Amino acid sequence: MLIDGHGRKVTYLRVSVTERCNFRCQYCMPEKPFSWVPRENLLSFEELFLFIKVGIDEGITKIRITGGEPLLRKDLPSFIKMINDYKSGLDLAITTNGFLLEEVAADLKEAGLKRLNISLDSLKEEVAAKIAQKDVLKKVQRGIDKALEVGLGVKINNVPLKGINDVEVLDILEYAKSKGMSVRYIEYMENSHAKDKLQGMKAEEIKEIIAKKYNFKEIPRESSSPAALFELEDGYRFGIIDPHKHDFCEDCNRIRLTAEGMLIPCLCFEEAMSIKDAVQKGDIKGASEVLKEVLKNKPEKNKWSNDNQNETSNRAFYETGG
Ligand code: 5AD
Ligand code: SF4
Repeated sequence: MLIDGHGRKVTYLRVSVTERCNFRCQYCMPEKPFSWVPRENLLSFEELFLFIKVGIDEGITKIRITGGEPLLRKDLPSFIKMINDYKSGLDLAITTNGFLLEEVAADLKEAGLKRLNISLDSLKEEVAAKIAQKDVLKKVQRGIDKALEVGLGVKINNVPLKGINDVEVLDILEYAKSKGMSVRYIEYMENSHAKDKLQGMKAEEIKEIIAKKYNFKEIPRESSSPAALFELEDGYRFGIIDPHKHDFCEDCNRIRLTAEGMLIPCLCFEEAMSIKDAVQKGDIKGASEVLKEVLKNKPEKNKWSNDNQNETSNRAFYETGG
């Protein structure tokens, strides 16, 4: 079992397989980074898998593959299959922008994937293009439909930004609802890689808009999930992630691995250690030791807060996978 320095049980590993992305979302990466990590610095699927096996053997039960955009990494379905074949019953998911999904959804399902989170910030072509800085909407929607068609579970991620897509909160809810998908509205998290002056909607503002049309009640969170959950009268559920509150840090169960092999204990903290040497040597014991050391130093709570407007994170979301 993996226990961190604050006594929390860690069961959830997020693995970023590339920091590259085919979008330039304003809240994440408006300009291409000055230089990408050279491809040879990325860990191979075999190397990532070695660490994942160590994690699973120590008690990891939930794994999410992220990016950048994970579908940019060639042959992702075979990586999914490696993980899925190692242990049955794992909760295995991917977070993607959906652009390349139409082509690989069936292979991902075949490989054993059960569910996906797909970013969908707008249902208007020009607004989606403004946020992602690329004409993306139609292709993403075809990806969503294909994923549903092959039987993958889909959740929608939406970041409502003031003056940009804030008028679409209800439209997104209704679109997702009509297709049997849940939505997670995510409060914009300030970070130094985002476009200046972006302002995210707050959880209360999102709720107010939905309350104008629907009655809903708050229901208990899923265990260790950062999303507050709400249920409409007909049973449809949506979530809101408010990183500025710390109430979910208390039972945080997650750690993150970057594509270069940095093991990160909390989204906006710089304390991180590399597992690269260990996995490249096939050193299982060494990898396990780094894992335990990182867990010992996992911070108690994240750095965003409601009372300090200036707190931002320097760690790029496209490296850590959000
Ligand atoms: N604030 C909030 N959410 C973000 N994401 C990426 N950057 C940010 C940010 N600054 C979310 C996107 C995407 C997921 C990978 O991370 O919604 O769906
Ligand atoms: Fe790419 Fe996701 Fe960042 Fe958008 S939020 S630029 S899709 S990594």
